[in-house]
Amino acid sequence: MPSAASEPAVQIEQSLAFEFANVVKEAAVASARTMGQGDAHSADQAAVQAMRDAFEALPIRGNIVIGEGERDEAPMLYIGERVGAIPPAGVQYPEVDIAVDPLEGTNLCATGAANSIAVLAVSEPGGLLHAPDCYMEKIIAGPACRDALDLDAPVKYNLKAIAHCLDREIKDLVVMVLDRPRHAGLIEQIRAAGARIRLITDGDLSAGIAAAVRGAGVHAVFGAGGAPEGVITAAAMRCLHGEMVGRLVVNTPALMERVERMGIKDPKRIYKANELAPGKQIIFAACGVTQGALLNGVRFFGEGYRTHTLVMTMARNNVSFIDTVHMYREPKRRGVRLY
Ligand code: FBP
Repeated sequence: MPSAASEPAVQIEQSLAFEFANVVKEAAVASARTMGQGDAHSADQAAVQAMRDAFEALPIRGNIVIGEGERDEAPMLYIGERVGAIPPAGVQYPEVDIAVDPLEGTNLCATGAANSIAVLAVSEPGGLLHAPDCYMEKIIAGPACRDALDLDAPVKYNLKAIAHCLDREIKDLVVMVLDRPRHAGLIEQIRAAGARIRLITDGDLSAGIAAAVRGAGVHAVFGAGGAPEGVITAAAMRCLHGEMVGRLVVNTPALMERVERMGIKDPKRIYKANELAPGKQIIFAACGVTQGALLNGVRFFGEGYRTHTLVMTMARNNVSFIDTVHMYREPKRRGVRLY
C-alpha cells in the first residue's frame, strides 16, 4: 500500500508482509525449475533474477544490507543496492532494510536434495546487522532455552542446559551440524556428551528455524556457518522467540579491515538474536524450493504449480504457512489438481 509522505509512518509489517512472501515465492519457483541440473550457479542466478524483478513491483524504498556480495562482485542484489517500485508523484514509500538469500542451499537445489529455500528478512532502517561475508559461530535452539546458551562454554555445558530447558536428557537431543572438516572437534564433543547428531551438507539457516519449532525433531544447531545466514536466522528467531548466540569468525587481516570498515567495533563480540536483528518491526519470509522438513518444495503440474511459504512478523506476532496453488490456465477436464 503506498502511503502519502504526510501520513504517519507506515506499519511495515502490516502492509508489506505478504508482498515479501510473493518475492520469495517468485525466487523459489525460478530456482526450482533448475532442480537437479547439477548447476548451483544457474540455480542461484535464476533465484536472484526473479527476486530482483519481484522487488521492482513493491511499494518500498528498499536497501539491500545483506545480499549477493559487494557491488563490484555481484551485478544484482548487491549490498547497498536500492530496490522497489518508482512511486507516483507526491507519494513516498516506506524505507526498509532487506537481507536476502535468494537461494539458501544452492548445492541442495542443484542436486535435488532437501531443504533449499528462498529467504529474506526485512526491518525498518538499522534493524539488521550489516554482517560481512564471513563465518559466524552459532548455537541456535528453541524458545524454551531463553538465556541458557553460552558460546564460550564447553559443548557439554550447552547440551546439558538445552536438555534441562527441554525437560529431557542429553541423549534425547538431536543436534544439527554442518558436515565440514572444521567441525570435526565439535562433532567429537557432541558425540562424547551423548547427544544424537544430524549432519547436514548445507543449509544451516533452515536448520536453525527447525530448531526453534517444537516438533520438528531438531533441538539445536551448533557450528560455524555463514554470517549473512546468521543475521537472517536471527530475524527468524525474533519472530519465533527462539534463542541464538553468534560470533563472527574474523581470522584474517583482510577480514579484520573489512569488519572495521563496516563499523563493527568489537569483532569478538557475542551477539544474541536481538542484537543481530534489533529491528522493532521484522518480516521474515521463506519459500520452499526443494522438499524440506518445514516447507514443501515447489511442485509443478500441467496447469500450474504449488508453493509453500512461511511468513512471520515479529511485532504482530504472526506465523503464517501459506500453501498456494497457482494456475496458469483453467484445467482441461478434471478440475483443480493439487499436486
Ligand atoms: P549457499 O546457499 O550460499 O551455497 O550456502 C549454503 C550453506 O550451507 C549455508 O547454509 C551455510 O551457512 C554456509 O553454506 C556454510 O558455508 P560453507 O559451505 O563454506 O561451509
